[in-house]
Formats: sequence, C-alpha cells, structure tokens
Amino acid sequence: MAKPPTIYFILLLAASCFFSVEAISNVTRRRKSFYIKGIAYQPQGTQILGTVTDTSSDNPFLEPDTFTDPLADGAGCTRDLPFLQELTVNTVRVYSVNASLDHDSCMSTFSSAGIYAIIDLALPLNGSIDTSSPSWGTNILDQYLETIHVFSKYDNVLAFNVGNEVILTGQTAVAAYIKAAARDIKAYLNSIGSSALVGYASIDGDSTFRDPVANYLSCDPSNTNSGSTSIDLYGLNNYEWCGASSFEASYAGVEADFAGYNVAAYFSEFGCITSPPRLWTEVAALFSSQMSDVWSGGVAFSYFPATSSQGQFGMVNISSDGTTVTTSADFTRLQAQYNVTSPPTTPSKGSSSPTYPSCPGQNSSFAASSSLPPTPNLAACQCLESTFGCHFNPPISNYSGLIGPLINTACGGSCNDIGGNGTTGVYGRLSGCDPTIQLSFTMNEYYELNGMNPESCSFGGNGTVNPLGASGTAAAMAAETSCVSSPSATFVPTLPSTFATASSGSGSSSSGSTSAKNGAAPLIARDHLLDY
Ligand SMILES: *[C@@H]1O[C@H](CO)[C@@H](O)[C@H](O)[C@H]1NC(C)=O
Ligand SMILES: *[C@@H]1O[C@H](CO)[C@@H](O)[C@H](O)[C@H]1NC(C)=O
Ligand SMILES: *[C@@H]1O[C@H](CO)[C@@H](O)[C@H](O)[C@H]1NC(C)=O
Ligand SMILES: *[C@@H]1O[C@H](CO)[C@@H](O)[C@H](O)[C@H]1NC(C)=O
Ligand SMILES: *[C@@H]1O[C@H](CO)[C@@H](O)[C@H](O)[C@H]1NC(C)=O
Ligand SMILES: *[C@@H]1O[C@H](CO)[C@@H](O)[C@H](O)[C@H]1NC(C)=O
Ligand SMILES: *[C@@H]1O[C@H](CO)[C@@H](O)[C@H](O)[C@H]1NC(C)=O
Ligand SMILES: *[C@@H]1O[C@H](CO)[C@@H](O)[C@H](O)[C@H]1NC(C)=O
Ligand SMILES: *[C@@H]1O[C@H](CO)[C@@H](O)[C@H](O)[C@H]1NC(C)=O
Repeated sequence: MAKPPTIYFILLLAASCFFSVEAISNVTRRRKSFYIKGIAYQPQGTQILGTVTDTSSDNPFLEPDTFTDPLADGAGCTRDLPFLQELTVNTVRVYSVNASLDHDSCMSTFSSAGIYAIIDLALPLNGSIDTSSPSWGTNILDQYLETIHVFSKYDNVLAFNVGNEVILTGQTAVAAYIKAAARDIKAYLNSIGSSALVGYASIDGDSTFRDPVANYLSCDPSNTNSGSTSIDLYGLNNYEWCGASSFEASYAGVEADFAGYNVAAYFSEFGCITSPPRLWTEVAALFSSQMSDVWSGGVAFSYFPATSSQGQFGMVNISSDGTTVTTSADFTRLQAQYNVTSPPTTPSKGSSSPTYPSCPGQNSSFAASSSLPPTPNLAACQCLESTFGCHFNPPISNYSGLIGPLINTACGGSCNDIGGNGTTGVYGRLSGCDPTIQLSFTMNEYYELNGMNPESCSFGGNGTVNPLGASGTAAAMAAETSCVSSPSATFVPTLPSTFATASSGSGSSSSGSTSAKNGAAPLIARDHLLDY
C-alpha cells in the first residue's frame, strides 16, 4: 500500500489454463477471459532517513527508503515457487527492481510455472514522481527505460506500472505528470516491439476523486480517439471488503462506477486491513460474473511480511538464513479461496478495440490539466549544461539533499524555467531536465544577474565558474534557445547510450529468450482491452 512498497504479485489465466510445463503460454489477442490472480511479492523496505514520517488514513504504510529486489534473488524465487503454486496464482506484482542486477533466474523460474510479473518502475526516494513537488524529467525517465530494457527480454512481463499511489485526494495536479510518463513509456515500448502494458496503481478514495483520476489516465486530450497518452491497465488498490461482506455491501459501488471504463482494470492490491482475521471471501466476489465484466481480477497483499500501524499483512515468514518458508493461517485461508475460485469462462463482453474519450474537466476535486509535460529531452539538457558560465559542482557525493535549498537560494522566487504546473498545464523549458542541471541553470542565472562576479558563483563552495560557458545574458539566452528549440515537444524516448553500452555485456550473457516480444501481454492486449 505504501509508495513504493514491497509487493509481489501473481496473475491467473482462465480456469481451463494450466501451466505445468516448460514455456509460458503465448496467448493470442483473440483469447477471451484473462484474469489476474495475483499476489504482491516484495520484502518490505525500511526507513533509514525517516523522511516521510506521516501516514494518511488512505495509506497507513510508511514510505520505505530502501528496497530489496525480489526478482534478483534466484534462490528465493525457487524457494517460493511451491508456495505460489499452492496459492494457484498466475501473477506477482513487484514494487521496485534494480536494473543493474541479474533477473534471469527468477523470471525463468516463474515463466516456466506460468506466472507473470507486473513490475512497478519507481524506486524509493528520488526514483519516483513526487506527489507534492512533481516533475517528469530525464532522471526518472532514464531509470524507467533502463528497467524496461533489462526486462524486455523476458516473456512473462505483463505490465510496467509508471506509478503507485502518486495521485492523492487534494493533490491531483500530479496526474498530468503520470499521464506524460505513461505516454513516453508507451512510445518506448512500441519502439522496441514490446507489447507489455503500461499501468498505474491508484489509491482508493471517494468516487469524486477516484473516478476522474481513472478517466483522466485513459482519456485522449486531443479528442481524436487516440490512445497515445492512455494507460493500458488501471489498477485500484482496494481494501473495501472485510470479513464476510457481500458484493452489495463492498463492491457494488466500484463496479457501477467503472461499468463503462475503456481500458482493462484490476485490483492492484486487495485484502482487508482494518479487521483481522482476513477471510478472503472477496476472492469469490471478485471473480464472479457480477464483477468480471469490469474487473480482470486482482493482487492479494502481500506474500512477504508487511507491517503498518494497522497490523501485519504478510502471509509467510522467511527464516533468517533465507531457506525456509513458514505459512500463516492468512495464507491458508487465501489459498483455500483462490484454489476453489475460477474466473467466469463465458465472456460477458465482446472483443472490441477500446475508445478513448475526452478528458474530464477540472473542478474543485480534480485539478489536472489535459496539457501534459513534454518528453524529457536529455540531449537538450546536456547541450544547455555545457553553456552555463556557472554550474553546480558539489564538494560531496551525497549531494541530493543540497539541491532543493540551493535552488531556492539561486532562483530567489521565480523558478518558471525549471518548474511546471499540472493545473495550468504550463511547463518551463527546463522542466524535464535532471535536478542537477536545473540547479546549474538557476546558479548561472544568478551569476549572470550579478555581473558574472566569481563570488556570485560560489554558493558556499557548491558552484564553480565554467570558463568555456556562454558569456553574458544575451549569449546565455541564445544558447538556451538553440539547445531547447522545441520546449513542448513530445517524441519517442531512447535508452541513454551510457546504459545501453554498460549493460550490453550482462544482457547478452543471459540464457534463453532474448526476444523483445512479450508472450504475456497479449493476454490483455492493447488493441483488445477487456477482451473477456
Ligand atoms: C512464443 O512465441 C515466441 C515468438 O514467436 C516463440 O519463440 C516461442 O517459442 C513461443 N512459445 C511457445 C510456448 O509457443
Ligand atoms: C485445490 O483443491 C483441490 C480439490 O480440493 C485439490 O485436489 C488440489 O490439490 C488443490 N490445489 C492446490 C494447489 O492446493
Ligand atoms: C543496484 O545494485 C547495485 C549492485 O549491487 C548497487 O550498487 C546499486 O546501489 C543498486 N541500486 C539501487 C537503486 O539500489
Ligand atoms: C468534478 O468532476 C468529476 C467528474 O470529472 C466529478 O465526479 C466530481 O464530482 C466533480 N467534483 C465536483 C466538486 O464537482
Ligand atoms: C511471522 O513472524 C511474526 C513475528 O515474529 C510472528 O508474529 C508471526 O506469527 C509469524 N508468522 C508465521 C506464519 O510464522
Ligand atoms: C553526507 O555524508 C556525510 C558523511 O556521511 C554526512 O556527514 C553528511 O551529513 C551528508 N550530507 C548530506 C547532505 O546528506
Ligand atoms: C531526494 O530525496 C531526498 C530524501 O527525501 C531529498 O532530501 C532530496 O531533496 C531529494 N533530491 C532531489 C534532487 O529531489
Ligand atoms: C499552479 O497553478 C494554480 C492555478 O494558477 C495555482 O493555484 C497553484 O498554486 C499552482 N501550483 C504550484 C505548485 O505553483
Ligand atoms: C553547500 O550548500 C549547502 C546548502 O545550502 C550549505 O549548507 C553548504 O554550506 C554549502 N557549501 C558546502 C561546501 O557544502
């Protein structure tokens, strides 16, 4: 439930589909009845810095500072597989992975067992789009692309999530940045021939918050029925059902609200968090015909221990030497429900291409503009950086915490060129640059305004004069215009060349499938969403 917490997930196919053998099924786009029967699969991170100490009633989990990549632990995946199979799950949801590690063992273990992965691209701390101070910049984009690059060779990636619980009640302008991320990640996936879906996992809330957020993420701002800025897969972290509830009491509202929704939707987390013990009777309801025309299954939270102020929501314990799994009564109850529950086999809707409606209007409960941030442009940002007469040159390597205070000092109020506003839909020409380049820009402006006095580039030892930089305000402005020729451009992003080179060695050493094609995503295909 936390952003980005640790979750691992499993996806389930139609009831008739069993995966006992080697290769994971390639399911064609014609296939009917695809349902996610999943579990969150990620050890809980810890809070070292304690940067976010508040939790909300929406989300009692603290945001972790650290994470452990569960898909880099081959022995762990082998250890857990029998338990995942006992649960009869077909999907794991993983909240954070490390692109520089080797995932071959886990991905192949799960693929062979017919288990798909939904992979969240965000990382703790500076690796996600920040709700209160949003940006969509080269730093996050490149992190996302690197993860997709290393996972694109696996045949069992169902979806990549561009965010989890980023858009919150009263803080909805950030949705413009999430939608820009979905647009650029989708363009990149298309460019490498991957059919993995682009997802977002939303926090639940009042329907006046939840529904416009969902509609906005799958709308078309251009009013031309284009899906280019739409997510493919909407996830709702839904904890409404507790105890022996009923469809009418817990799910009728969410079912009715999403009855006409245009892209595939599932519960990206579920499992009661307020009144233990969890009976998991919602499983039958979620996979019943009452729900299945809208909701394509869900992901139970959580395989690994996950503690919040409200309790413990893990279903197993792992021994300290990492070799032994102990299951809980919670696991047993979920297992019993999952094992006896099959999704409907009769499609309730025909197959048709999704349509992309116009975007919801802005009002007091939904603030995001349909004018989106541009695609982060690394070449333009690097071009600009080389022209600065004064730039950020920190004396310490752990400089991340210096950036915010220094920007405030240097830009002294107006930061329009580096900032942006998801409500007005106005984004500065450097809004997509890395924070260090944004900081250098503001330092350079300050330096220019102060007659290029070297003292004005000191910033307590954090700034250095660049003798090769553009000299004078006019030259700086000319450089800016020439480097950033189309500040609002959108285009297909490419993998940073440094990463492509650095990772080519380990990438090519991997065994087995290296095809960029994806065998899982056609289960819920982009052009046949909700292909029940
Ligand atoms: C799935 O499709 C890929 C690419 O066409 C192919 O290499 C692979 O053998 C297929 N897998 C199965 C299980 O048929
Ligand atoms: C599911 O239940 C059936 C019937 O009770 C049983 O035979 C089977 O072993 C169970 N499957 C798992 C994975 O526990
Ligand atoms: C990823 O793993 C590498 C190698 O262990 C490590 O140096 C790096 O810090 C990790 N990255 C993150 C974001 O945890
Ligand atoms: C804002 O618009 C959404 C639909 O886009 C609606 O659900 C919501 O109730 C509206 N909020 C207010 C306060 O009017
Ligand atoms: C897991 O460990 C916790 C903390 O030690 C304990 O409270 C819980 O009962 C254990 N669960 C299982 C299934 O062993
Ligand atoms: C950087 O690390 C040093 C040594 O660990 C520490 O004293 C300092 O507070 C850190 N600075 C920042 C800005 O985090
Ligand atoms: C990165 O995260 C740390 C801890 O939350 C924060 O202090 C710092 O300002 C962030 N850095 C940037 C560049 O956003
Ligand atoms: C964005 O613009 C709106 C409308 O002008 C304003 O109310 C809001 O404070 C601005 N947000 C930021 C973060 O500047
Ligand atoms: C760098 O900037 C930080 C934050 O403004 C300040 O505390 C520090 O004194 C500056 N100088 C050095 C050498 O870190």
